[in-house]
Amino acid sequence: MTKNTFYRDLYKQVEALISDETDVIANMANVSALLFEQLADVNWVGFYRLIDDELVLGPFQGKVACIRIPLGRGVCGTAASKNEVQRVADVHAFDGHIACDASSNAEIVLPLRLNEKVIAVLDIDSIAFNRFDSDDQAGLEKIISLFENVMINHGVVN
Ligand code: SME
Repeated sequence: MTKNTFYRDLYKQVEALISDETDVIANMANVSALLFEQLADVNWVGFYRLIDDELVLGPFQGKVACIRIPLGRGVCGTAASKNEVQRVADVHAFDGHIACDASSNAEIVLPLRLNEKVIAVLDIDSIAFNRFDSDDQAGLEKIISLFENVMINHGVVN
């Protein structure tokens, strides 16, 4: 299966899971469970919510993790403060990386926005160096933008 096909199928599964549900936390919980189950070689998938300039642990799958991350700190805090995807091939080479699970070697973090403001990040960790390429990023960005559209369609306000 090509990555394109894989992410097209994954998108459809996410769509079926979250489109009719208005509760953001419930949707974060199911999306993290689905991605954890479907993505190969991942050891942690979850959301951190941006609350008062701090990222706070949200729904996730994997080992227990750091609860609060200041904006600008680590891969997650950088993605949130820059409002930019961070795709890291080797977390040990990322200045300020926060090691929640020592077996993580690569990471991708995508901001989740509502009305152009970052409200959360999706963090995915892998045991495999260089696990995420530009196709993974593109596939995950589409899923995040679906999540953003579902919130808008349901009139979620921040
Ligand atoms: N590694 C992240 C922290 C969160 S854990 O990976 C779950 C970071 O540097 O922001």
